[in-house]
Amino acid sequence: MSRIIVVTSGKGGVGKTTVTSNLGAALAKVNRKVALLDADFGLRNLDLLLGLEERVVYTALDVLAGDCRLAQALVKDKRLNGLVLLPAAQNRNKEAVSPDDMKKIATALAKGYDYIIVDCPAGIELGFRNAISAAKEALIVTTPEIAAVRDADRVIGLLEAEGIHKISLIVNRVKPKMVEDNKMMSVDDVLELLAVPLIGVIPDDERVIVATNKGEPLVIGDHDCLPANSFMNIAKRLEGEKVPFIDLMSENDNILSRLRRIFGG
Ligand SMILES: Nc1ncnc2c1ncn2[C@@H]1O[C@H](COP(=O)(O)OP(=O)(O)O)[C@@H](O)[C@H]1O
Ligand SMILES: [Mg+2]
Repeated sequence: MSRIIVVTSGKGGVGKTTVTSNLGAALAKVNRKVALLDADFGLRNLDLLLGLEERVVYTALDVLAGDCRLAQALVKDKRLNGLVLLPAAQNRNKEAVSPDDMKKIATALAKGYDYIIVDCPAGIELGFRNAISAAKEALIVTTPEIAAVRDADRVIGLLEAEGIHKISLIVNRVKPKMVEDNKMMSVDDVLELLAVPLIGVIPDDERVIVATNKGEPLVIGDHDCLPANSFMNIAKRLEGEKVPFIDLMSENDNILSRLRRIFGG
């Protein structure tokens, strides 16, 4: 049975595409067959984050129009066996795709892949409805900011109204130092507000931005760092493993701050 999972948030710029690319790579690393479906027809960039943009020939729209077969449109990631991308068309009318179209594509992909992960656009309009149409599960990405959390709350309500009840939360761009200084919501604060189970916490880390710019998901390239491990852990939790959450606060607890505490500083 394949799992169709939408990565969504409401708010833009919180890390949906980053999560989709890293999670896809992470699941492929544990030998799963993964198809990433870019549902952001307005501002596609999953191909960029994966470094596959130059190999895009066809898009989901060409498949729907009957201009190519589904298999022809899939871009295989040469770094990881089992990872493919179905790109979105960039410069055509967003309205060209309907929820039924997306369902058709996702259902066809489900025959050959363990995971279909759908990268959702920002907002709650047609692009959102397209992205969630085939999904049986959702990963909500939020940052610990009030606007992102409110949008996430709204989206959770919409998903539930559509019958998607398997919803997990990823809190992205956590800055432990700011949380410690009471300048940023903690993960617990966010959880209390949203009341859906937590599946991942990702620190704010410039290596994520470097990886984005390189077109190489962190879990493929700089895979031995805290944010890469956070993505790997989400993949393992999706697979049903019980993986303890990394305590970002103690990672932040360097020798100096410990000494200061000991000496009352
Ligand atoms: N954990 C993180 N640490 C630092 N930068 C991040 C992190 N997650 C995402 N970003 C950056 O935030 C920006 C938006 O991310 P993106 O995945 O495109 O968001 P969305 O798809 O939700 O619009 C990108 O420049 C990305 O590199
Ligand atoms: Mg995006």
